This record gives sequence, structure tokens and C-alpha cells, in this order.
Amino acid sequence: MTPTAPTTGPEAGRLEEPQVRAMFDRIARFYDGMNSVMTAGLHHTWRSRAADLAAVGPGDRVLDVACGTGDLAIELRSRVGAEGSVVGSDFSEGMLELARRKAPEQVWEWGNALELPYETGSFDAATVGFGARNFSDLDQGLREMTRVVRPGGRVVVLEITTPTRPPLSTFFRLWFDRAVPLIGKVAGDADAYEYLPNSVKRFPDAHTLAARLHAAGLDPVRYLLTAGGIIAIHVGEKPA
Ligand SMILES: C[S@@+](CC[C@H](N)C(=O)[O-])C[C@H]1O[C@@H](n2cnc3c(N)ncnc32)[C@H](O)[C@@H]1O
Repeated sequence: MTPTAPTTGPEAGRLEEPQVRAMFDRIARFYDGMNSVMTAGLHHTWRSRAADLAAVGPGDRVLDVACGTGDLAIELRSRVGAEGSVVGSDFSEGMLELARRKAPEQVWEWGNALELPYETGSFDAATVGFGARNFSDLDQGLREMTRVVRPGGRVVVLEITTPTRPPLSTFFRLWFDRAVPLIGKVAGDADAYEYLPNSVKRFPDAHTLAARLHAAGLDPVRYLLTAGGIIAIHVGEKPA
């Protein structure tokens, strides 16, 4: 049995690596369905915006870190063309298995985001969608993504962020703190969907995340907030 994260206190929403992996192995089969229910299908639009900011084109080599069931990597693949390549990397075999079923023609590899098994400077861009929040060491994950892109390449982070202004902040609290854990319980994993709102609360706000990306070696770093301030997409460039 996987130990669950505390739901209150400073450690709420924090899990160690083996716990994160076990959780995603467990929820893989209903992960896509839960995303569609929780976001009314909008998650596809957000991934598409993230792919826009990665600014990849025909022939580019892209790494999608913590690719899960593969939706962002599949979106990126459509942009790099036959001469380009996209590697989807994750440490949950359960999630990778679903990505492989969805797009058997794409490259899906096991890899730990904190110790990426790729050469320095080997990609034009590296992306992570809704995965950075789950890194047990965020700064190490950001440094690794920065390392594997070439000088002039881009790192893109798509994440849920906590809106601060009403009425959306009130709706967000009710939805994430009350509704999501209930839906998760019905889907079959109450613990995972209690962890989700706590992990969002614990994650740095958009301004702080920009500073952490900068500290990881990216410059300039910019970000946009969308969906009323619920979603942040950061992009940083590795200096040439
Ligand atoms: C919320 S899912 C996001 C999946 C996908 N990127 C998406 O957009 O739906 C988070 C993913 O991060 C992966 N993950 C978390 N920490 C990781 C790490 N250190 N190395 C590799 N994958 C990791 C999990 O296995 C899971 O598949």
C-alpha cells in the first residue's frame, strides 16, 4: 500500500519519488477521463498553447518530460513533421503504457526527470505539462530540462496555478478542495485527488516559478496566465 501525503501542514501535497510513481501507476487508467471532467475538456487547449510557446517547427527535436499518457507529446509531434522528433519520457510505466497505446508510432521512453538520460544540448526544446508540480525536487528537474536543451533552445512549463482574485479564486477553492476529491473518490482513488489540490497550493506562484526557471539557467523567462489565472505557461530560453 502506498503511503499517502499528509493533507494538512507544510508537507501537504508533498510526496517522495516512489510514492509519486506508484500513484500515477495506480491512476493511469482513469487519468485522461478525470482530466476531461475536471477541466471540461479545456486541457487540450492549454497543451496546444504550451506547444505554441515551445515554438517548435519542422525538423526540431523535442523532449516532453513527465509525458504521462502522452497528450502534449502528441501535440508537439504534429508540429515537428516527419523530419523532426519528439521523445515522451516518464517514470511511470502505467502512464507510458497508455501513451504507447494512443500513439504507437511515437517514441516513449522511461526516464526520471531529476536525472534525464539524455546528452547535454541534445534538444531544441523541452516541455513539461502538469508534471513539474509532482517533481520531488523542482529545482533539480528545471536544471535537468535546461541542461538537455541546446543554447538558444526553450524550456516550457505548463502548470495549474492558484488564482488570487475573486470570483475565480472562490470557485477554484470550491472546485479543487471539495469537488475534485469527491470525483476522484468516485473514480476510485480519493488519495490521489486529495493530493492534487494540495500539490497546487504548495507549488510556487507564477512570479516565483519564473525566478526559479531563471535560477535554473534560463534567460529571458516569460509567462502567460490563462483560463482566468488558473493556468500558467512559462517559457525560458537557454542563453546562446
Ligand atoms: C499530472 S501527470 C501529467 C502528464 C502529462 N504531462 C499531461 O500533460 O497530462 C504527471 C506525470 O509526471 C510524472 N512524473 C512525476 N515526477 C516524475 C519524475 N521525477 N520523473 C519522470 N516523471 C515524473 C508522473 O509519472 C506523471 O505521469
